[in-house]
Amino acid sequence: MSLIKLEAIGKSYGDTQALQCIDVNIETNEYVSIFGPSGCGKSTLLSILGLVEQSCQGRYLLLDHDVTTLSADQLAILRRRHLGFIFQNFNLIDHLNNIDNIALPLIFDGMPHQQAQHQAQEALNSLNLVQHGTKYPWQLSGGQQQRIAIARALVNNPDILLVDEPTGNLDSRAGDQVMEILDELHRQGSTIVLVTHDEKYASRALRQIVLKDGQVSSACYA
Ligand SMILES: Nc1ncnc2c1ncn2[C@@H]1O[C@H](COP(=O)(O)OP(=O)(O)OP(=O)(O)O)[C@@H](O)[C@H]1O
Ligand SMILES: [Mg+2]
Repeated sequence: MSLIKLEAIGKSYGDTQALQCIDVNIETNEYVSIFGPSGCGKSTLLSILGLVEQSCQGRYLLLDHDVTTLSADQLAILRRRHLGFIFQNFNLIDHLNNIDNIALPLIFDGMPHQQAQHQAQEALNSLNLVQHGTKYPWQLSGGQQQRIAIARALVNNPDILLVDEPTGNLDSRAGDQVMEILDELHRQGSTIVLVTHDEKYASRALRQIVLKDGQVSSACYA
């Protein structure tokens, strides 16, 4: 089944045409990278996929829902239940400890506190971060913070992981570790869409979509 179906998606900011005529399908258990130079529209495309931005043109079907027909509340539910996000700058909340950061998407979705903590603890364990649960994000290295952010993205067992430059703020060793975690998640069945401007990471995905000036300039399979 197509998890994601984009038909002639376009997005402009004033005079800037950030994306035009994007047609992309993403199936269950695909590992797709979106690659291209700075300003080519990668983050814009990911934020449309993640229901953070609306497109100006075209049609987006996510899990067979036409997202243009949904209310803000329905979009928020779809986002919370089906999507997991990982960002370049981690986006952790500094005044919450790491377990509470991971549990946050579950709390937002109405899960009782104790159950959310339990599920967050399991996500923490799966990323070998057991000893860091009661610490705060600012007490961890960049690589550890990114692993907490990955645990948070996984905690609601999302259908799709949307990942924007996950290695951009990391040294090459921590970056490689994060990429190994993504590769392993894909082997375990996750569907991953990875935005990167690093060719060596883009080529680890099984399909590469190359963007140039807001358009798909090529798409190829590994
Ligand atoms: N909120 C915004 N307002 C106005 N223009 C924007 C906005 N967001 C993006 N743009 C423009 O849209 C184009 C695509 O931006 P986008 O952030 O998607 O690029 P990118 O490929 O992610 O770049 P980078 O690799 O530097 O992160 C750029 O020309 C950018 O200046
Ligand atoms: Mg970007």
